[in-house]
Amino acid sequence: MSATVIDGKAFAAKVRGQVGEHVTRLKAEHDLTPGLAVVLVGEDPASQVYVRSKGKMTVEVGMKSVEHKLDVDTSEADLLAVIDGLNNDPTIHGILVQLPLPEHLNEDLVINAIDPAKDVDGFHISNVGLLGTGQKSMVPCTPLGCLMMLRDHHGSLSGMDAVVIGRSNIVGKPMAQLLLGDSCTVTIAHSRTKDLADVVRRADIVVAAVGRPEMVPGDWIKAGATVIDVGINRLDAPERGAGKTRLVGDVDYESCAAVAGAITPVPGGVGPMTIACLLANTLTACCRANGLAEPEGLTA
Ligand code: GUN
Repeated sequence: MSATVIDGKAFAAKVRGQVGEHVTRLKAEHDLTPGLAVVLVGEDPASQVYVRSKGKMTVEVGMKSVEHKLDVDTSEADLLAVIDGLNNDPTIHGILVQLPLPEHLNEDLVINAIDPAKDVDGFHISNVGLLGTGQKSMVPCTPLGCLMMLRDHHGSLSGMDAVVIGRSNIVGKPMAQLLLGDSCTVTIAHSRTKDLADVVRRADIVVAAVGRPEMVPGDWIKAGATVIDVGINRLDAPERGAGKTRLVGDVDYESCAAVAGAITPVPGGVGPMTIACLLANTLTACCRANGLAEPEGLTA
C-alpha cells in the first residue's frame, strides 16, 4: 500500500484564499480590516524568517500587518507597554509575540499580558482553559492546521483512536484536546511512555510532535493509518554537497508512507498550515470583536 500524500502547501493556499474572501467581504459590508501585530524581540535568524513570511501573507490576504521589532535587551516593562498599546488599539485584532524570547524575559508573564480575545496563538492561560473545557477559544495554530487537514481527509473523526506523540503546550496538549473535541479516543505519548511502538500501532491517527528526527519507523504504523508529522528538523546532508542540509520530520517518511493510508510530507505538510491558521484566527478574532458570525470551516 502506498499512502495518499496530504498536500499541506496546497491546502494552506486554499485556506488563505478563503480568509482573503472573508476579508474582502468584511471590508465591503462592514468597512472593517482585520489587523495582525507581530512582536519580535531580538534577532534570532529563524524567527526573523517566520516574521517576514507572516507579514507578507498577512498583506496578501488583505489584512493590516504591523511589526514591532524590539532590541534584544528590551526590558520586560517596555515589552509589556508595547503589548498594552496593542491591546488597546481597535485596529489590531490579533497579537503574536514571537517565541522564544530572550532569557531575561518571562514568557508566561508576557503571553498572559496579551488580551485573550487578541491572542491568535492561543497560548494565553484563559484560552488554554477554555479549550480544555470545550468552550469557544483561540486555538493554537499548528494543532488547528492538523485538525483541519484531518477533517478534510476523513470527514468525521468520531471514534477513531488517536495517538499524539509529544506533550508540549504549543502542539501536543492542545492537539489532544482538539482530537478529544472531535470524539477521538486520545492517548498522549511522550519520552517516558512504555512500549511506545505498541501504543502507536493501535492508532488510526498518529500525530508526531516530538522534535526528534525520523524517530517513528514504519513498523510502528498500523496499515492504513493517517500520519501527521509536525516535526521540522534540519539534518546535515553532505551527499548534497559541502555544508548542505535537508529538512526531515519526526517520522521516517519512506517507511511510514509504505504502510500508512495518508501522510503529511516534510516540508510541505503541516508547516504551511501554521501561518494560514494564524490568519484564520486573526479573521475569527476580528469577527468576534465586532459581533459578527465566525467564518465557517476556519475554526475548531
Ligand atoms: N515560534 C515558533 N513557532 C511559533 C508560533 O507558532 N508562535 C509564536 N508566538 N512563536 C513561535
